[in-house]
Amino acid sequence: MTEFITVRPTRFGQKNAWHRDQIISSGYYLATMKLYQLVLATCVLAGCETKAPNAVKKQASTVGELNVGADFSTYEKVNKSAVRSQDHGRRFVDTYVNATGLEAYTDGDEAKPFPVGSIIVKTSWEAEGDAPSQIPGPTFVMKKMEPGYSSENSDWYFAMHWKKPVGSFAKQFPNGVYWESPSPQVKYCAKCHNGYDRQVGLVPEAARSW
Ligand code: HEC
Repeated sequence: MTEFITVRPTRFGQKNAWHRDQIISSGYYLATMKLYQLVLATCVLAGCETKAPNAVKKQASTVGELNVGADFSTYEKVNKSAVRSQDHGRRFVDTYVNATGLEAYTDGDEAKPFPVGSIIVKTSWEAEGDAPSQIPGPTFVMKKMEPGYSSENSDWYFAMHWKKPVGSFAKQFPNGVYWESPSPQVKYCAKCHNGYDRQVGLVPEAARSW
């Protein structure tokens, strides 16, 4: 083996000893990198609290429960069966409205304002062809806040919450998604919703439970 190294010329014609050093040190470098990556991966999975750099700590955290609308299962479900939304990633959706907002949502009078504290939660299922799958998609939330909260959006709060993104989103957001007002990430919700009466799109007529 030594012979092999000694007879082999180096690219720049340096001494063989130097060449061997290069080989050794590059092997050492690779091993060190592997160890570093292992430590990093372990930190990401197990959540190193102590010496991990900030970026790693951030990645280790996952999104928690909803801050607004967590009790949606106690709200009124306003659709008969899951509706294929034309927006929201074309997923199948169920819409729930709390007691405060129910009359305004179902009244039919599109001029009727939503009382402060109205909460609308829309859960979703990933589509499997033309049917809903068992795989949950994001949850979409709107809440009517006090006057002055966000006057350009009629004081609506918006949120998108997705604990376990799937498909290409899983790679992009391995620890989940939780965007909520006033984050610029939910600006696109308002942009669209501001185009509707009272900022709600309502359940399509054929699917309404009321
Ligand atoms: C391209 C337009 C568009 C965008 C963008 C959009 N929505 Fe909607 N949204 C609608 C329409 C239309 C409806 C009613 C029909 C349905 O459910 O698809 C609706 C319904 C809802 C509902 C149920 C209440 C209602 O309006 O009847 C909630 C809650 C909601 N969206 C939240 C969000 C949030 C949060 C975002 C951003 C993360 C968002 N939406 C982005 C168009 C949009």
